[in-house]
Amino acid sequence: MEHVKFHYPDLAALRAELDRLGVTLPLSEDLSVLKTPAQVGRFTLANRLAVQPMEGCDGTAQGEPDELTVRRYDRFADSGAALIWGEACAVVREGRANPRQLWLHEGSLDAFKRLTDRIRERSMKKNGFAPLLILQITHSGRYAKPDRVPAPLIAYNNPIFEKDRPIDTSRILSDDALDALIPRFGEAAALAEKAGFDGADVKCCHRYLFSELMSAYTRPGKYGGSYENRTRLFFDAVRAAKDSVSADFLITSRLNVYDGFPYPYGFGVADGGGIVPDMTEGVRVAQTLEKEFGYSLLDITIGNPYFNPHVNRPYDLGGYVPPEHPLEGEARMFACVGAVKAACPGLTVISSAHTYLRALAPYLAAGAVQQGVSDLAGFGRMAFAYPDFASDILTKGALDAGRVCMTCGKCTELMRAGSTAGCVIRDAYYTNLYREVCKK
Ligand SMILES: Cc1cc2nc3c(=O)[nH]c(=O)nc-3n(C[C@H](O)[C@H](O)[C@H](O)COP(=O)(O)O)c2cc1C
Repeated sequence: MEHVKFHYPDLAALRAELDRLGVTLPLSEDLSVLKTPAQVGRFTLANRLAVQPMEGCDGTAQGEPDELTVRRYDRFADSGAALIWGEACAVVREGRANPRQLWLHEGSLDAFKRLTDRIRERSMKKNGFAPLLILQITHSGRYAKPDRVPAPLIAYNNPIFEKDRPIDTSRILSDDALDALIPRFGEAAALAEKAGFDGADVKCCHRYLFSELMSAYTRPGKYGGSYENRTRLFFDAVRAAKDSVSADFLITSRLNVYDGFPYPYGFGVADGGGIVPDMTEGVRVAQTLEKEFGYSLLDITIGNPYFNPHVNRPYDLGGYVPPEHPLEGEARMFACVGAVKAACPGLTVISSAHTYLRALAPYLAAGAVQQGVSDLAGFGRMAFAYPDFASDILTKGALDAGRVCMTCGKCTELMRAGSTAGCVIRDAYYTNLYREVCKK
């Protein structure tokens, strides 16, 4: 099987392909809605474009933003996006996904403070507004690798992930070990506020620890089995975060509403052995976050970047050939986002995975906002490749086809090789780095 390459010169060609496939995406040629402000709690956002969390694996050993981190956030600050969702940042050392993952603690606080000051100052100068700044706080669980070797800390054994490499049961976090993490999220949220962020994201996506627990159907005890048990730790961590910050500080989440693995190993998947999405529980989590925890903002995503990356971020180059047309993946993503927005109209909802559409992505962003599928359009890989994507969309009404992300997957390849990550095609620093990594 070969990749179905992106070959749509314009919206009409894209629409024809969607019709041929029998799937739909919200699309609009009128981009004006992207220039309208959005309300998130007490914050008024200047436009509808957001930079999604994009980890560069380039912090210091102590978890502070380092030179390349600052360079990346300089570019994001210049982008013109009204919201910058800071990348995965560990709450404890053993929960880091790589030895250079950001890690927020008293010792790294000042460096984070300098980073938020710098982002605001640059964006004010360049764009005339300060973006909303969120920091993603997390424990990487199954993907923990605080030193150079994997050191997974899992919620339960999962035969789908562990087919070739079973993980010893001693790596299953006990209920006591999970209990002990709750206050860590409170501390991290309080530090994020001190560091100058506007909000903290208690991360629950992509099968990192809280997201994995959502599907812990087979785990015994208070964190497994029933919906109440599977969501318990996440909600307790959200409560701890809320209790540790001022009323003005946002607590939010990036939430997986669908994992794409069959029951009993995937969240948001219909019972019966297949991988058909079932939004019942994802929507219930979103409603609880809004009604019980007072969330005003939620960032929706699906899939797992290691096991089914085509679900998480459709692509058509490199990696393995996905078992579906990338546009089917896009349609699934936007159906899932739309289900949450329909159930929680009062929440400001961010959609993910616009990048595959390359220069046509603004039409999807505008269509989704216009049709009430989402309120803000979040860009991930595009922000690496084309850091001023937002100002081009807003001021020129178009993206330059020669500058867009090609969804080649090389940024992820760099990550997986233990390197720092960035755009190999459009950013000369990473083109050279990629050559060196390949030589090795
Ligand atoms: C190199 C790389 C780093 C990423 N880092 C994070 C992260 O720190 N936190 C997170 O929630 N998602 C992360 N993602 C996922 C993106 O935020 C986004 O969901 C995904 O790339 C799909 O959006 P896109 O089509 O706009 O790229 C990362 C993706 C890539 C490729």
